[in-house]
Amino acid sequence: MRSELAYLRHHLFPDAARWDPLLAIYYLTWTCDFSCPYCSDGQGTPYPAHKAKYLSAARVVDLLRIVRKNCHNMEFTGGEPLLHPEVDRVLESLPSLAFGETILTTNGWHLEQHLELAGRVLTKLVVSLDTLDADLAQRWYGKGPGTLERILSAIRAASRLPKTELVVSAVATRENCRGLPEVARFAWELGATFACYPELRGTVAPEGLRESDGYVELYEFLIRQKRQGRKVFATAKALEWMRDLSDFPCHPSTLVAISPDGSVMWPCLEIGKDGGNLFEEPDLNRLYAKALETHGPPPRCGNQCHSACSLGFASILEHPSTLIREVACGVRGALQGKPAWI
Ligand SMILES: C[S@@+](CC[C@H](N)C(=O)[O-])C[C@H]1O[C@@H](n2cnc3c(N)ncnc32)[C@H](O)[C@@H]1O
Ligand code: SF4
Ligand code: SF4
Repeated sequence: MRSELAYLRHHLFPDAARWDPLLAIYYLTWTCDFSCPYCSDGQGTPYPAHKAKYLSAARVVDLLRIVRKNCHNMEFTGGEPLLHPEVDRVLESLPSLAFGETILTTNGWHLEQHLELAGRVLTKLVVSLDTLDADLAQRWYGKGPGTLERILSAIRAASRLPKTELVVSAVATRENCRGLPEVARFAWELGATFACYPELRGTVAPEGLRESDGYVELYEFLIRQKRQGRKVFATAKALEWMRDLSDFPCHPSTLVAISPDGSVMWPCLEIGKDGGNLFEEPDLNRLYAKALETHGPPPRCGNQCHSACSLGFASILEHPSTLIREVACGVRGALQGKPAWI
């Protein structure tokens, strides 16, 4: 189903017993060589602590082909996706699969050696950067002296890719939120988009995050800049939900989260029930119907999961007018199968 149709289906028939995800998120490998202190999946476990095996490139391509039948947009994440031993072969396969958006999220450490290929096959590169303080970067990421310089150098090189949109992405914690407007300005000076999400422990922000020095001001700043046309990822509505850490209507079936071995985390990464393996049931819609039968309908959650995709899709689906505003703001291609909110 094309993106525009899938969007309408999620808007008009949110409870349909079909998946039709707007975006597939594939955890290419759980391995990672960073030690970000905030790193946490929906259960509070750091991603690199997961042990599921990754697939060979040939199997990954088989998996992507299965996903492509029902989903137009693909994001690779992890762990650190660039640590998959055959990541270049996986990336090389993308043009033949004809996804709309092809996105990769990385900590930037290994980026420069893959940059030329990334620039040929990815529509969007998301590089994490939480601070411009060299000491903090060294302490958080665990890579020793020169950490910040190496990441900044990779980001500057990525900003020169002619066809790939660059997003600089930060996690706002009590310790770094005061410094994040500076990171946003660094991104904008390079022509990149700035994304910023609150730290979650499991599914909820740590106590006191919203009250911490600079947190609300950070999101006020981003909302103001967004309204003035700066490239800030997420809609103004989603930024308000993050500022307030308030309840929002999650639509988990807009996304499908897939582990390295091809098993689906149902209805979302955060709840992560066994949704079946795509090699055993190579059709996302049939897999959805089976998961629905086994586990019952996705829950109506409370105030949690202020993460990139959950918030982005919720704000678009609840307030379709934000889609129009996004387009007016100059966010590209939202109605041509290139959703601007991811
Ligand atoms: C799990 S990482 C995987 C990709 C890559 N290793 C990276 O860090 O960019 C994907 C995104 O999740 C974010 N993230 C990790 N733990 C988080 C947490 N506890 N709260 C909010 N975002 C988090 C990271 O900053 C990153 O932008
Ligand atoms: S780089 Fe990404 S996966 Fe690795 S520890 Fe940091 S947030 Fe977690
Ligand atoms: S709020 Fe959404 S993403 Fe979070 S657990 Fe509930 S359904 Fe999953």
